[in-house]
Amino acid sequence: MPIETTPVLAGPRGAHDSRGAGPAPDADLVAVPFGPDLTPAAAPWLESPVPVDALLAHYEAKGEPGEVVEVPVARDGAVRRVLLYGTGDGSAAALRKAGASVARRAKGRASLSVVVPSEGEAAALVEGALLAAYTFTIGNGRTKPVGEIVFVGGDERELKRGEAVARATALARDLVNTPSSVKTPAWLADQAKAVAAESGLAVRVWEESELGEFGGIRAVGQGSISPPRLVQLSYTPENPRAHVVLAGKGITFDTGGLSLKPTEGMKAMKTDMAGGAAVIAAMSALAAFEAPVRVTGLVACAENSISGSAQRPGDVITQYGGRTVEVLNTDAEGRLVLADALAYADAELDPDVVVDIATLTGAAKVALGQSLAAVYSTDDSLAAALVDAGEASGERLWRMPLVEDYRGMLDSDVADLANVDKAMSGAAGSIAAALFLREFTGERPWAHLDIAGPARAGSDEGEITKGGTGFGVRLLLRYLTA
Ligand code: BES
Ligand code: MN
Ligand code: ZN
Repeated sequence: MPIETTPVLAGPRGAHDSRGAGPAPDADLVAVPFGPDLTPAAAPWLESPVPVDALLAHYEAKGEPGEVVEVPVARDGAVRRVLLYGTGDGSAAALRKAGASVARRAKGRASLSVVVPSEGEAAALVEGALLAAYTFTIGNGRTKPVGEIVFVGGDERELKRGEAVARATALARDLVNTPSSVKTPAWLADQAKAVAAESGLAVRVWEESELGEFGGIRAVGQGSISPPRLVQLSYTPENPRAHVVLAGKGITFDTGGLSLKPTEGMKAMKTDMAGGAAVIAAMSALAAFEAPVRVTGLVACAENSISGSAQRPGDVITQYGGRTVEVLNTDAEGRLVLADALAYADAELDPDVVVDIATLTGAAKVALGQSLAAVYSTDDSLAAALVDAGEASGERLWRMPLVEDYRGMLDSDVADLANVDKAMSGAAGSIAAALFLREFTGERPWAHLDIAGPARAGSDEGEITKGGTGFGVRLLLRYLTA
């Protein structure tokens, strides 16, 4: 019998309260916004022996986002605490940060009531607060966030939008944070099915026996006791403007295969399906956002394991569509499963745009760190649209070049292509991976997001929580719903 491993999918909880800016609801803790003029939002119950603006001046508050000043107030004959939070210029970035700071200051409290500023991007405030309060624990985890966040005032639709974005992101974090002892390819496919049922998506799952033509997915998965899967999710609105395919890397654990990773490099590899999680999670919210485009999500799920049946360095595999690949390094497995998905999309789905998202290379993390992801594209307007969506959503991208000079690195002596630089120089590793994927896109407008850096965080920061970040969900939702 397996041990009890069902995780407590804490996710963020939120509620709205539209009764206006006062009187204060009966929350454990109340937060009130103030701008650079140091005037807090009108709140009649904000009675303090010293005027609040004088208190803020005393504490040298500047009204910057992220600033939180705790003040005692008299309420119902008792001394209660109020969090005064800075809102800066009211931009999405400022309010996301402000919301996150307030939620973090309420850590461990049963409830927090946040008065929403009358100006600015309220959705971002909600998103920041709920995401900062996210936790993932199995059993008695150490992290105890605030129990409940209630937003007071603000536009109902904006609040709902922020909550929906946070929920989708939390779903991706849950999938990423789930240990690989639970998270087999079949488990991930089942999660996708459950999401599809809940959010009105069509779903198809290819079982192991049906993956015949998908030689990349089969080769990567063949060393594991948990067989691979391919998942297809479909969202089809009326009169769609275009058809976008999203392809996600769903490696449920990456040992490196026979090209085994060292201990340090393997430690975090339960997160190697973060691209696939972002696809599933973003698609979970498309109907709620009434996205005007048809979207097909493909998640190529496999465990890159080590055993007597694992693929060997030097093996030649046949990708979907018939191209052969010499596998010189079994740790470059993400591109093998994605190549099948991309070739299948090109051959069978007739997309207008293809975007793949993957924790593909350590090199992308080395180049850009953990704050932003690399984007490669064969189409300038697609690249620009994604970069813009990244700026607006707070999930930033940096465009990288598809350097033609480097394409020759992937020529193989025995097959159509090699999966890594045949000289094994390690140079331009993230670009080489992108060039490999491009071979399978059939010259359709295509973008590749290498999220190896930002998919996972080593510590809490703003709305980001340690572990899986859900990177890509907010960006993709922005791109697909704008
Ligand atoms: N999943 C890894 C990439 C990765 C590394 C993600 C660190 C997150 C953090 C990927 O499958 C991989 O192992 N890539 C190799 C490619 C190499 C063998 C050409 C790498 O980056 O070392
Ligand atoms: Mn690998
Ligand atoms: Zn990997």
